[in-house]
Amino acid sequence: MKRLLPFLLLLGFSALAQGAEGLWARYCAQCHGEKAQGVRPYPGLGEAASLLATPEGRRYLVLVVLYGKKGASGLMPGFAQLKDEELAALLNHLMALLKAKGEPFKPEEIKKERGQNLAPDQIKRP
Ligand code: HEC
Repeated sequence: MKRLLPFLLLLGFSALAQGAEGLWARYCAQCHGEKAQGVRPYPGLGEAASLLATPEGRRYLVLVVLYGKKGASGLMPGFAQLKDEELAALLNHLMALLKAKGEPFKPEEIKKERGQNLAPDQIKRP
């Protein structure tokens, strides 16, 4: 069992990582691309990296995935139907795609912003 443990841990981590990739492919890639490069007419997310550096920026990213966003490049629906863990995993996957540094998102950060009944056109980039 001792020898199996590192293997099992590795298996667990890769299952988690695949989980985030699978969620991205299912919910985000159709508009933002497998690598967040964007799929015309929808935007790439390269400019989101700078948002990770400030608390307002991080909060904005959480609001976007929960409530969506309407702007010059179109309409993104909100994904409040996904679990806190799934939305945190998606934002962490975005961070990894952008090779951005920062604290990983925790499910509690998502939970805190629920229940505000915001519409996509109320979500503004800080
Ligand atoms: C139907 C297409 C569509 C889907 C699906 C979609 N988005 Fe978006 N997303 C958009 C559009 C359009 C915008 C920009 C709206 C605007 O013009 O401000 C956007 C904006 C964003 C932004 C803000 C970027 C910034 O720099 O301000 C983030 C972050 C984001 N999306 C993440 C995601 C994630 C994560 C998913 C999957 C859970 C996702 N999107 C799914 C269309 C989509």
